[in-house]
Amino acid sequence: MAHQRELDNVTRFYQNHPINEEQILKALEDKGIDPARATENDLKAFDQDHYGGIAALESLMREAGITNRHNVLDVCSGMGGPARYLPHSIGCHVTGVDLTESRCAGATRLTRMVHLDKLVGFHHGNALEMPFADASFDVVMAQEAWAHIPDKPRLVAQVARVVKPHGVVAFTDIMRAAPLTQEVAQRLFDGMTFTQIESIEGYAALLEANGCTIERCTDLGREWTGILQQRHAMYRSMKPSTVAKFGEAGYRKYDDAYAFFVSLYEQGVLGGARFIARKRK
Ligand SMILES: C[S@@+](CC[C@H](N)C(=O)[O-])C[C@H]1O[C@@H](n2cnc3c(N)ncnc32)[C@H](O)[C@@H]1O
Repeated sequence: MAHQRELDNVTRFYQNHPINEEQILKALEDKGIDPARATENDLKAFDQDHYGGIAALESLMREAGITNRHNVLDVCSGMGGPARYLPHSIGCHVTGVDLTESRCAGATRLTRMVHLDKLVGFHHGNALEMPFADASFDVVMAQEAWAHIPDKPRLVAQVARVVKPHGVVAFTDIMRAAPLTQEVAQRLFDGMTFTQIESIEGYAALLEANGCTIERCTDLGREWTGILQQRHAMYRSMKPSTVAKFGEAGYRKYDDAYAFFVSLYEQGVLGGARFIARKRK
């Protein structure tokens, strides 16, 4: 596979990520919730690995017009938080696909734990070669993941291939708001495994070129700066569990990389957006 080195780095990064199954279960226990009795209402506070949590997911769901009749694909589904919340709140079917096998396995276990496994399933796979037939899904969604994916023309072509005619592509992602120097791009890859950070204009052109009409594009850069500062503080508050699992050096490496990432938002170099696009035919 082309880009194997980048994909392997992303997998390693998520195998050592502070948000993981063990930490989610511990967060439940710390709240006095027995995981064996936990519901999606309990879990949803701890398993969303994107900016803005449930409120951001609800904005995406509302703008995408997701209903209980829809068959939804979550590309880069992580620990499965968004994929579980959709059927919990709306009743639709969701499939998740993710590159990191341990995250698919963890997502599957958490989903079984809260009895949503009849409506949600996870596939271990690469978004650049999705194992789904053409026109399989009413909605294809994603949150804060595509910056890890090295070949955006191929990614958007895959997404447009699996969405049905008149279906919706709805996603948010980390985007560049100014040109990135080689040095900054390399630091973002080394620290956060962002392999290619697209711009709003770049995504818009790729969607249009792949038969999708943009219905809405909301710039989230300013909103995310505050969220990311809080998120960094949250990661720092998790230091004991991160050090216990990945060691002091692992914690330090992640913290330095995150501090640099947040500083790029503060300087207006990085931003983000929510795209809602409809497949023409
Ligand atoms: C920040 S997490 C987002 C998870 C989820 N969207 C959420 O909001 O909770 C990014 C996820 O993207 C996945 N990922 C990165 N590159 C991928 C690829 N090429 N194909 C599929 N998944 C990928 C990672 O394994 C990771 O689980």
